[in-house]
Amino acid sequence: MFLRCFDDAEIDALRQVIESQSLWRGTEGNFVARFEDAMAKHLGRRFVHAVNSGTSANEASVAGLGLDVGDEVICPATAPIFASLPVFAAGCIPVFADVDPRTLIISPKGIEERISERTKAVVVVHLFGQPAPMDEIMAVANKYGLKVIEDCAQCYDGYYKGRKVGTFGDVACFSLQQSKHITSGEGGFIATDDPEIYKQAVLYSNAGMTWFRYGLEPLKPEEVGGIPTRGHFSFGHNHRMSELQGAVALVQLSKIEKFNEARRKLVQIIEEELSGCEGILLAHRYPDTVPNYWAYPIQINTEAINLTAKEFSRICYEREGISVGYYHEVNYLEFVFQKAQAERRTPFGYPLPEHVEYRLGMCPNAEEAAKRTLVILTHHATDPEKIRTQARAIRRVAESLMS
Ligand SMILES: Cc1ncc(COP(=O)(O)O)c(C=O)c1O
Repeated sequence: MFLRCFDDAEIDALRQVIESQSLWRGTEGNFVARFEDAMAKHLGRRFVHAVNSGTSANEASVAGLGLDVGDEVICPATAPIFASLPVFAAGCIPVFADVDPRTLIISPKGIEERISERTKAVVVVHLFGQPAPMDEIMAVANKYGLKVIEDCAQCYDGYYKGRKVGTFGDVACFSLQQSKHITSGEGGFIATDDPEIYKQAVLYSNAGMTWFRYGLEPLKPEEVGGIPTRGHFSFGHNHRMSELQGAVALVQLSKIEKFNEARRKLVQIIEEELSGCEGILLAHRYPDTVPNYWAYPIQINTEAINLTAKEFSRICYEREGISVGYYHEVNYLEFVFQKAQAERRTPFGYPLPEHVEYRLGMCPNAEEAAKRTLVILTHHATDPEKIRTQARAIRRVAESLMS
């Protein structure tokens, strides 16, 4: 019997929320606040602020850094667009940097190549659950005075040199969407040690209201013309997490070790079944890292098999009836940003900065590596036998294509 994602524990917590007759996050002591405290403890960070999605968490992270409109934020070319659109939404310019072709993770060299006078921050995505080489990345960030956002949406409890990812940069953002290591269906949060980043992030995701926790003083709303105001101190969205999400997220956090263990077992099966297969390269691991795979990336060894991941995936489907994801984020980037350029408008109708661009050819390592990368989802509630069948089928296809 394999793990189930949810059980009576989530149902009990949800029942408590319903019986309380109040489904919004409200005040101290409620589920969302308890989740924030438990997660802060889990990560070893001072402040956690929960929001309604990972994308909102990315946006709150950028907003938390207090950047100016037109500031540049370097993003990896091979990350889900959820990492770069929030930069845009916060009024900044995503600038795409090349990656390490072995992992598709932003490379220190790639960051350095994109630095301009306007660069203020870099988004490091611990893609697929692989911890990025943080010493080298932090060295570049420190050299140029850049703020660092760690996007941990795909990497809970990954370690770099014995320390959890999400504790290296100025701020980290996580997703609680259904496919992630823990989930509340939709949801997300930011984590930081810096009270100013925390406060700015709260303001941004709470329509400019200063509902700070952790004993931080809220601002006092002023009276305007003798009339009390509600206290919106800046621009912001309503990206608040609901109690329903908070209740599920808190229970899920209590199960994270069990979920991580199940993911590790799936990875062990994949590596067992595919090791020694000449046509397939297993995931690369940076020294001194402990990954916690959201999805296990494999690459086609193009010296042995002259096919793209997309072609290989199609053959797997046709011959073996299995579906294997192939990586396509770079193409998304080209599509979305060219479309944005052509329309020259954000979804709100505001003009875009002149120089946001992604065109093929800008990040050659990202484009080449993306073409040969396949991903095997390692969700903790997957039947291990299904993963074994999938890995064996991949091996059979790879071996047949080599002979
Ligand atoms: C790396 C990364 N960042 C951000 C996000 C956004 O998270 P969400 O889907 O919860 O908005 C995702 C989502 O899948 C992601 O993979």
